[in-house]
Amino acid sequence: KKVVLAYSGGLDTSIILKWLQTEYGCEVVTFTADLGQGEELEPARAKAEMMGASAIYIEDLREEFVRDFVFPMFRANALYEGLYLLGTSIARPLISKRLIEIAAETGADAVAHGATGKGNDQVRFELSAYALNPEIKVIAPWREWDLTSRTKLIDFAEKNQIPIAKDKRGEAPFSVDANLLHTSSEGKVLEDPAIEAPDYVYQRTVDPEKAPDAPEYVEVSFERGDAVAINGEALSPAALLTRLNEIGGRHGVGRLDLVEGRFVGMKSRGIYETPGGTILLEAHRGIEQITLDRGAAHLKDELMPRYAELIYNGFWFSPEREMLQALIDKSQEHVTGTVRLKLYKGSVRTVGRWSEHSLYSESHVTFEEDAGAYDQKDAQGFIKLNALRLRLIAMRNRRLGG
Ligand code: ARG
Ligand code: SIN
Repeated sequence: KKVVLAYSGGLDTSIILKWLQTEYGCEVVTFTADLGQGEELEPARAKAEMMGASAIYIEDLREEFVRDFVFPMFRANALYEGLYLLGTSIARPLISKRLIEIAAETGADAVAHGATGKGNDQVRFELSAYALNPEIKVIAPWREWDLTSRTKLIDFAEKNQIPIAKDKRGEAPFSVDANLLHTSSEGKVLEDPAIEAPDYVYQRTVDPEKAPDAPEYVEVSFERGDAVAINGEALSPAALLTRLNEIGGRHGVGRLDLVEGRFVGMKSRGIYETPGGTILLEAHRGIEQITLDRGAAHLKDELMPRYAELIYNGFWFSPEREMLQALIDKSQEHVTGTVRLKLYKGSVRTVGRWSEHSLYSESHVTFEEDAGAYDQKDAQGFIKLNALRLRLIAMRNRRLGG
């Protein structure tokens, strides 16, 4: 028996590695992805080697992550429950895709992950895995084992010579998931949603109150709905998001304290930092303002919550997500141009936008003389016919109500 484990190199997934070997008696292949979480990956290799992993995969997936997952999602302006930019949700399908591919390469019949039985991530990992390989077996140790307390976990680690970093002996103050799009923190000191999160929770943004006193301008250029350049410099998707994270981070942009509805039914409180993503969403909306027709824009805004919920709930690899994606991608044909934004103490605002594909017509909208572009008399009939139903209702109400 052989299993491919999504392995971070941290204490919990190291315990899982050992547990799969001892309790399941299986060979373990580890897979560690660089999604821009900002951690060294070589220590994960050394640990996996030391623990006798039968093969070790370590891959830089940052470009694929941003190009094929983050950017398609941003074409939709996706937000879950109005606020969450889905930084964790969008990373899971890519990790599952590689787990399944590595299982095929190494002849493994199962995959394993370190998500708990209470959360969204187990659902996302597993729905993606089953969609890509209907025969795959999934092992989720957190739902099975009896290591139900920190003490039991530490005991197991000590018994099995798993190295424990000094600061990992006690309870971690909260749980973190990070990648190029965001850092999310949940649990422990954050569990009471009435209490403000302590400042040490924040990892990639400065406190907006301590951000520079001078605003900073940044220009983001788009081609067919995807960001391609910053301040005129063409950048790859991952390099572009990295740059936006730096710029947003130093101005305290993209902090969010949210109580959200998990797919499994409970509510949870999270602290999110999405500096680059927050700039990107504002910029994308800015360029759509001049390049998208109203009908197209309103239709995609209506469908956006559905699309966001599919990603949140783990249905990236589903026919309905792909159908919506096709519609969204079609809408982006002319979403090309540049947006100028102003960052200041936690805020990011569009202050200018221009495009060869613009639908904005100054000669139509101007308050000045418009040289015959628009005949104001046309508006009279337009309003009269639109008012007809409202007038008939008002006449009936007058008749009945006296
Ligand atoms: N609640 C977020 C989501 O479901 C983040 C989950 C992972 N975060 C964490 N700190 N473990 O997408
Ligand atoms: C977990 O439970 O593993 C993290 C939180 C979540 O998946 O929602």
